Amino acid sequence: MWEYTDKVKELYRNPKNVGVIEDADAVGEEGSMICGDALTIYLKIKDDIITDAKFQTFGCGSAIASSSALTEMIKGKTIEEAQKITNKDIVDFLGGLPEEKMHCSVMGSEALEKAIASYKGIPVEEKKEEGEIICKCFGITDTLIRKEIRENNLKTIEEVTNYTKAGGACGSCIEDIQKILDEELKRTHDEKPAAKKTALTNIKRIQLVEKTIEDVIRPRLLDDGGDIELVDVDGKKVYVSLRGSCAGCVSANVTLKNLVQERLREFVESDIEVIEQK
Ligand code: FES
Repeated sequence: MWEYTDKVKELYRNPKNVGVIEDADAVGEEGSMICGDALTIYLKIKDDIITDAKFQTFGCGSAIASSSALTEMIKGKTIEEAQKITNKDIVDFLGGLPEEKMHCSVMGSEALEKAIASYKGIPVEEKKEEGEIICKCFGITDTLIRKEIRENNLKTIEEVTNYTKAGGACGSCIEDIQKILDEELKRTHDEKPAAKKTALTNIKRIQLVEKTIEDVIRPRLLDDGGDIELVDVDGKKVYVSLRGSCAGCVSANVTLKNLVQERLREFVESDIEVIEQK
């Protein structure tokens, strides 16, 4: 059972700004009825200030509350200010959303982005086609997946599904989502190259090993029902223990060498050796 904040419940029961602005200066649509959630946002704009905002949504209580919150947040703001609103701001306004419902806040920020694009004369079709469709069930592009991973520091497929819905139906896009996650996590590490190139102190090595296990290795194992525990770091020898479905698995040795050791060599030091502690 999901826990909703009082603000979400209030806006779900009594949403504000529901409806259509017939002579809107900007319109943004996100989602689709086929996918179960759809939002259209209408803006009235004068001298680059949003003087009115309304919405129509087809979706759950969180989608209604998120859309209502968004319209309240942007009224009176300049286009430049509204452009900076992210799904996190919507979630903060609501006092939180269940993880499984984060995609409702993303739908709001995406619809707003499209409305502003249309106001600026960027063709909606052009905006829609940005990026490559990764999840065909929900029409989610790699551009949106990467954006949400970066903005919300997502690390697992489950989180990507919660925020974008990608991967939440037939599951045939999971492998592609994992590739994008791997690339993004690698990019984050590559932005801190100094730690990899210079000789590491023991403390720095332990910190990097812990971070790589937490950010890169554990999410992969958890997706398969496994887990890992760091037991000790002795120089360049890293002792770990596999847990869950990985413990005692016939492929445990392959997991240790091809996933754990490879990733640690990639992100920490090229001559790290991983040893299983049973
Ligand atoms: S293609 Fe992504 S869930 Fe079906």
